[in-house]
Amino acid sequence: MGTKTDRIIDIAKRRGFFWQSSPIHGAIAGFYDYAHLGCALKKKWENEWRGFFLSLNDNFHEIQPAQIMPEEVFKASGHLDSFIDPTVKCKKCGNVERADHVISDAIEGEFEGISLEKMSELIKKHNIRCKCGGEFAEVGILNMMFPLEIGTGKMKRMGYLSPETAQGAYVNFKPEFEALRRRLPMGLAVIGKAFRNEISPRNVLIRQREFTQAELQIFFDPDTINEHPCFDEVAGYMLRLYPSRNRKTGGIEEMSCNDTVKSLRLPKFYVYHMAKIQQFYLEHLGLPKKRFRLKELTDEERAFYNKYHWDIELDLDSLGGFREMAGIHYRTDHDLKGHEKVSGQNMSVNIDGKTFVPHVLELSFGVDRNLYALLELAYTEEKERTVLKFPRRVSPYDAGIFPLVKKDGLPELARDVQRLLKENGFVVFYDETGSIGRRYRRIDEIGVALGITVDYESKKNRDVTIRDRDSMAQVRVKMDKLVEVIRRFLMGEDLNRLGTPLK
Ligand code: GAP
Repeated sequence: MGTKTDRIIDIAKRRGFFWQSSPIHGAIAGFYDYAHLGCALKKKWENEWRGFFLSLNDNFHEIQPAQIMPEEVFKASGHLDSFIDPTVKCKKCGNVERADHVISDAIEGEFEGISLEKMSELIKKHNIRCKCGGEFAEVGILNMMFPLEIGTGKMKRMGYLSPETAQGAYVNFKPEFEALRRRLPMGLAVIGKAFRNEISPRNVLIRQREFTQAELQIFFDPDTINEHPCFDEVAGYMLRLYPSRNRKTGGIEEMSCNDTVKSLRLPKFYVYHMAKIQQFYLEHLGLPKKRFRLKELTDEERAFYNKYHWDIELDLDSLGGFREMAGIHYRTDHDLKGHEKVSGQNMSVNIDGKTFVPHVLELSFGVDRNLYALLELAYTEEKERTVLKFPRRVSPYDAGIFPLVKKDGLPELARDVQRLLKENGFVVFYDETGSIGRRYRRIDEIGVALGITVDYESKKNRDVTIRDRDSMAQVRVKMDKLVEVIRRFLMGEDLNRLGTPLK
């Protein structure tokens, strides 16, 4: 039935992951609501992100800044002048499209970041036209922020919905630096909404107008950029790199962090964090290595605030190849200096007699894109079932709990198991309807990591059957060992080693 994207959208709607927002009033493109399963999956991914990246340093912390911010913030950051997209308007029907998208839909290649003149030239040269057949006017620009008026009358101020969570961290830098006893590096993480008036939202969760970012801003002394206290731990770790020099061949190079520092002339502080991000995707979440790459952006493609900029990309069949999921941005002192200039507040710090404005390394992730990627990579059609093989850690539910039958005390015992697991922090649900086979199929389709069945033996022996979603292997486990077994299974251990295998 349809393309892979269609099938993912079908499961998402039918089972409750996500759907377009406000459809009863005529949905607007680029807005999605997360339903109960999507919300559970998102919470899991965000918690894994938090756990992993905040534990990189004792001085990394999460904050929650406001998402509506005054105009001055975006004057300072440069978004007011530079956060623009190239647009083309059809002379016949008035339709406005993103110029680089119109070009890449018509001819092979990557066009993000090329000059407006070059885009106009390509549109003319290849006679690229609007869907209605009309001719396009010259390429223009549009600021992507959503403006709004805050308050009324004399107190009225102009503001914007923040287009990135990062600015919330920058405006909080100084008070947090004081509160956290003046230490660098200092990390401020924000998981929050970002708003962009995308001209052509597309590909479901991939390009939306309201989306979630998970961003970590690391403030550090620029004189220390060529070192990291834990670099030796990753020195020999092999990165999967797609440097800009390989654009023609598409070749991915596997290179140790040490060699990356030497041959690509990247600072150790930067490369250390490249390694950590790769480890998050490949080791922590366990995504397939061949689907991952770190892509270097060219001067034209880099965001206006970045000195070094590599994106994290995953290869997604439904989107026809590698797509950006995250970025690792060396923003220098661009933002703090900008805020200093516009606000008149001094952003420099004094550490051991040295006064300087800290630099920022930003690890920036689009949460929704990562969730879409998880869905696509998890989606598996087997002979008898459709199954979402999510990484165990981020499965929307850890386990479904099933009494074999609805009588003879089995529901009560299954409820006891449910209570025990909930009390121990697992995300579980109870289901007693339909045959066990049907209940397994239902949890397979929504990607629940484990099925736990309580049967007549359970009453006698105080044990249960646990079934692994991916391999369908089943083992018998004593109830008093259940919490420990599930914890170890979710950390990646083979189920067959955690209980007595059933034939
Ligand atoms: N603070 C830096 C920043 O915002 P970005 O490359 O513009 O950088 C970061 O965005 C991440 O946010 C991207 O790597 C992508 O995953 C996600 N993202 C960007 N625009 C998006 C959109 N319109 N819809 C969904 N996710 C988006």
